[in-house]
Amino acid sequence: MQVYREDPEAIRAELQAGLLADQPHVLPKYLYDALGARLFEAITELPEYTPTRQEAEIFDRSMADIVQGLPASACLIDLGAGSCRKAARVIPLLRPVQYLAVDISVEFMGNCLEALRREFPGLRVEGLGIDFSEGLSVNAIDAMVPQGRPRVFFYPGSSIGNFHPDEAERFLRGLLIDTSAQALIIGVDMVKPARVLELAYDDPLGVTAAFNRNMLLHLNRRLGADFAIADWDHRAVFNTTHSRIEMHLVARRDLQVQWPGGSRLFVKGDWIHTENSYKYSIESFSALLGRAGYSVAGVFQDSHKGFAVFVGYPQAV
Ligand code: AVI
Repeated sequence: MQVYREDPEAIRAELQAGLLADQPHVLPKYLYDALGARLFEAITELPEYTPTRQEAEIFDRSMADIVQGLPASACLIDLGAGSCRKAARVIPLLRPVQYLAVDISVEFMGNCLEALRREFPGLRVEGLGIDFSEGLSVNAIDAMVPQGRPRVFFYPGSSIGNFHPDEAERFLRGLLIDTSAQALIIGVDMVKPARVLELAYDDPLGVTAAFNRNMLLHLNRRLGADFAIADWDHRAVFNTTHSRIEMHLVARRDLQVQWPGGSRLFVKGDWIHTENSYKYSIESFSALLGRAGYSVAGVFQDSHKGFAVFVGYPQAV
């Protein structure tokens, strides 16, 4: 497995800049330390949070149609592979010759790659531990995938919704232009009534609240900050103008947060913006794919039409 080392100084600088901005913010990737990753797994089991189950329903019903017409003898490149279980459902039907799991969190990847090797003998299985949230490095992919082998990108789970639409467009265009994607399979959560979405991101059990507040513990470790969990409330609001759920951490009282080299005063009610989760319609995401240079070859939905899996190819030039 190829693991790219992170730069702790750059991380501290990024976190500090976000906390000192006019509207304090922290990038959502910092939700995923080891505990955060487990809390996210728990979120996917909540009755109120439907994307994971709805996507699984689409894969159960339509996988043969999804892979229909995709290039043979390909490398399946799994973005945000996690436990690789979603890819394990694509592989038997797509029959790629190579599987490349890409994920920022490499903690569980070793075991899951080993399991895939046992499950699919003859398949070349590799892992790449990399933060691709600001674009996928061409060199990293080229080093792993032989030239001339078709590259089918698989980006399930609706994580594309955590990008601003302009960044999503740039990221997806980059897959075509920089890393020569020949096809893309991508999962997207659909827009729903605000009360449904707000419950999905502020569940009665408080799992999403724990997921959001845990980010502060992560910041304490990364930055040496002194956030106290008890001082912060979780908030999830649907912003209709931007068609996105926003997660915030709201100060319960006036407080001063310190870290080596910096500090910030928060007044009661001030908030740190921790995540956006954009919600699309079939039309709005098809248009985004079009702007990014794809033609949409197929759209598959679950029975409640809450989620969609799109298949895109490079537009003919
Ligand atoms: C990972 N990502 C697609 C999730 C989402 O729905 O935006 C993260 C999440 N945040 C709160 N609940 C789930």
